[in-house]
Amino acid sequence: MEKLYNTARTIHDKIVKDMTKRLNNAEIKKVIDAGSGKVSASLLLKYFPNSMVDAIIFPGDNRKKNPLYNAISSDRLEIFEADVCQTTFRKHYDFCLVHCTLGEAHNFGNHFTDLFHHIMDINSKYYLFVDVLEDPCVHFRYLEQWLKEKGYKIIRKKKFRNPHPEHYPKVKYDKYKLEYDSKHFLAYLVARSENK
Ligand SMILES: C[S@@+](CC[C@H](N)C(=O)[O-])C[C@H]1O[C@@H](n2cnc3c(N)ncnc32)[C@H](O)[C@@H]1O
Repeated sequence: MEKLYNTARTIHDKIVKDMTKRLNNAEIKKVIDAGSGKVSASLLLKYFPNSMVDAIIFPGDNRKKNPLYNAISSDRLEIFEADVCQTTFRKHYDFCLVHCTLGEAHNFGNHFTDLFHHIMDINSKYYLFVDVLEDPCVHFRYLEQWLKEKGYKIIRKKKFRNPHPEHYPKVKYDKYKLEYDSKHFLAYLVARSENK
């Protein structure tokens, strides 16, 4: 029996359900969780019932690793410790989830653009980006512009209100410390173009 973290009442569940509702989820067989945690890994296992999930966490990020091992028990989940910015992923995936990962690029010594470009080097048919709209470390305008310029198709873009906003008082951004409230999430469902 598979054991998942119960996401049923969370905004994250609502977002992934809404953003993937027009995909043929049963046909999604290989999935990568780029920057994993118990919430995102459980959502992938729940919404893609026929898929194998590769969960990637930054090496030594026990904050995420231990809850993943404790909250989930599934033969369909494999956990890898790897820095996305230093790894070549050779597998082809059907779906790549990037759930609240881009905002953490700086925490692990990477720039936003570096992490974003390495994620886009992962060969996947679809990508779902979800992050906090107010997070100053996430450059949504850059992401959207880059995807359009490179010929990716933005299938769906949607803003979601966060029913439980949190205050982040000291977010490191270059030499500054900024603060924000996580009032909204912004999500992009993206398809790779045929000739990539
Ligand atoms: C805020 S957590 C999000 C957790 C998860 N997506 C969820 O929603 O449950 C950010 C995740 O990104 C991972 N991460 C950040 N930078 C990374 C990198 N360069 N390579 C691999 N993982 C990274 C962290 O280890 C962590 O698992």
